[in-house]
Amino acid sequence: MGPNKGKNAAAGGSGTAISGVDAAADGLAELGRGLGGVGSPEVSSTEEDGPTAKDYYADSYSHFGIHEEMLKDQVRTKTYMESIYQNAWYFKDKVVLDVGCGTGILSMFAAKAGAKHVYGVDMSAFADHAKVIVARNGLADQVTIIRGKIEEVELPGGVDKVDIIISEWMGYCLLYESMLDSVLFARDKWLVKGGALFPDRANLYLVGIEDAEYRSEKIDYWDDVYGFDMGNVKELALLEPLVDCVDNEQVTTAPCLIKTIDLNTVVVSDLDFAAPFSLKAHRDDFCHALVAYFDVSFNGGCHKPLGFSTGPHVRNTHWKQTVFYLKEALCVCSGEEISGLFTMAPNKKNNRDLDISIEVVLDGQRCDARDSMTYRMR
Ligand SMILES: C[S@@+](CC[C@H](N)C(=O)[O-])C[C@H]1O[C@@H](n2cnc3c(N)ncnc32)[C@H](O)[C@@H]1O
Repeated sequence: MGPNKGKNAAAGGSGTAISGVDAAADGLAELGRGLGGVGSPEVSSTEEDGPTAKDYYADSYSHFGIHEEMLKDQVRTKTYMESIYQNAWYFKDKVVLDVGCGTGILSMFAAKAGAKHVYGVDMSAFADHAKVIVARNGLADQVTIIRGKIEEVELPGGVDKVDIIISEWMGYCLLYESMLDSVLFARDKWLVKGGALFPDRANLYLVGIEDAEYRSEKIDYWDDVYGFDMGNVKELALLEPLVDCVDNEQVTTAPCLIKTIDLNTVVVSDLDFAAPFSLKAHRDDFCHALVAYFDVSFNGGCHKPLGFSTGPHVRNTHWKQTVFYLKEALCVCSGEEISGLFTMAPNKKNNRDLDISIEVVLDGQRCDARDSMTYRMR
């Protein structure tokens, strides 16, 4: 069985193929974080009737459901909490900026850890709820919530430097719909020299999996639909990476690190990259797909570095994993290496979408293959 089938983590339901069609069909936040959330932050509803589906589509973060999903992802939220609480000595009396504060949860962790003042910025209408949350918890003097795009706001009182930036910016496959650009903008504008970013490092990995059942059900299905050849649709299905939970039993190769992002030094142009990879098989099996996952860690300002992974070998998070099906299955013997090149770039028209290409080469005992695939995360 392929990635998913009832094994989903926080989000529920079966896998999410990344495409504009999904976003248009479902629109709302529950589909997956951030879909549709990059548009205008304006929510046009009146107080009496509340936000409409159209409003949620334009601003998916304005619905509490997506915040519930993120908060309930304990791997995510507890690691942020621990990285702040266990380093309370570092937060004490510091000025902190929370980029994309959502409910204000990270801002409140920082305040509880002893920060002098925390500025939480969010472009979503949900910022208005965050203001209420902060006040309900008696933190209004210590935490200021600002509704607006980080690229467009000024911090009140003429504050022009902060000591620490906290942000949960990661998207599917690390960079899909990611708001890393916005965090880098904030870093360059406000972070004091020697200041810290929480988290400050991210790594992206690839691994090979066996996935015959799911491939046959979702990809090869189009070869013979009630006796008709719909192979052209199969080509479309292959273009879309699948976001879902992969069973660790399906993993047939060692992982390969393909990208490290040091948030202290990375620049936006580094997010357009090509990385060679080599995946060593640890058993004789077929490889139907390559799977991407990431980890992040909190190092700067930390006595004890903390972090979490979104890989298939650990407890699932709401990011699950991202599965890239190969055109043809590879028959790989233990010890052989699938090598290739992984290329990722923000789409030219919409920089929160990703264009990915994967070239694979296998010179094996049972299989000699060279293939090149392109994928679109929309
Ligand atoms: C992944 S959520 C994280 C929410 C919260 N920090 C948490 O950990 O639960 C990201 C938030 O960033 C906000 N956001 C995205 N891009 C932004 C930008 N350029 N300026 C301000 N807020 C942004 C979204 O509205 C969303 O609420």
